Amino acid sequence: VEAALADGPLKGRHIVVTSGPTHEPIDPVRYIANRSSGAQGTALARALAALGADVTFVTGPATVPPPDGVKVVKVQTAREMLAAVQTALPADAAVFAAAVADWRMAEDHGQKIKKDGSGAPPVLSFAENPDILATVSQMKTGRPKLVVGFAAETEKVEAHATAKRQRKGCDWIVANDVSPVTGIMGGDENAVVLITDAGADRWPRMRKSLVANRLAELIAEALAQ
Ligand code: CTP
Ligand code: CA
Repeated sequence: VEAALADGPLKGRHIVVTSGPTHEPIDPVRYIANRSSGAQGTALARALAALGADVTFVTGPATVPPPDGVKVVKVQTAREMLAAVQTALPADAAVFAAAVADWRMAEDHGQKIKKDGSGAPPVLSFAENPDILATVSQMKTGRPKLVVGFAAETEKVEAHATAKRQRKGCDWIVANDVSPVTGIMGGDENAVVLITDAGADRWPRMRKSLVANRLAELIAEALAQ
């Protein structure tokens, strides 16, 4: 298999993939996280590498291990993820599958936040994290030819994802419903809608590895154009 891989349709292409959650520290012992396992991003990186791509895999603290045959860059926070992506560029394509924390703490807490004895909880203030997908989509020079985002929604999936694609300026959005009832976040399956300039393509629910294989094939076709 390995020999065939190196000669696939993505041979010689560099693709950056982000994956997993990010962790944003609250203080030295606590952090903000989300339920992303990294499964879909990992499957996609594996599928791209299997088609011969040279993959830089920028991952937050995911629960599934990174795939073999890719360059792994481990990060914790959104800001570290942005820096790692910028270091990894240029690339032919970039796929942003990470569930990036939208907010971080507004101030650095160098010491553990302590109860003050009054019974009053602390008030945490947040700052918005940089949007990695939007930053790369809107690059004036050196933008990857194909920029693919994901959209995690819990309602009005297509409408929200279509608006997201417009707002961020990416080429494709892979949208999914991450409501707990779907079991998609943390599960083995995904039901995605692929949004491109041609409209919305609803894929049936299938294993994340299969979603990854299909997406990798489409990416190979788009880069061959
Ligand atoms: N994304 C990113 N950097 C961020 C936030 C999101 O690169 N700071 C990327 C994600 O990796 C994904 C896409 O943007 O590819 C959409 O993420 P999502 O959380 O669905 O959208 P947001 O723009 O953050 O909007 P909201 O969470 O409010 O729906
Ligand atoms: Ca978000």
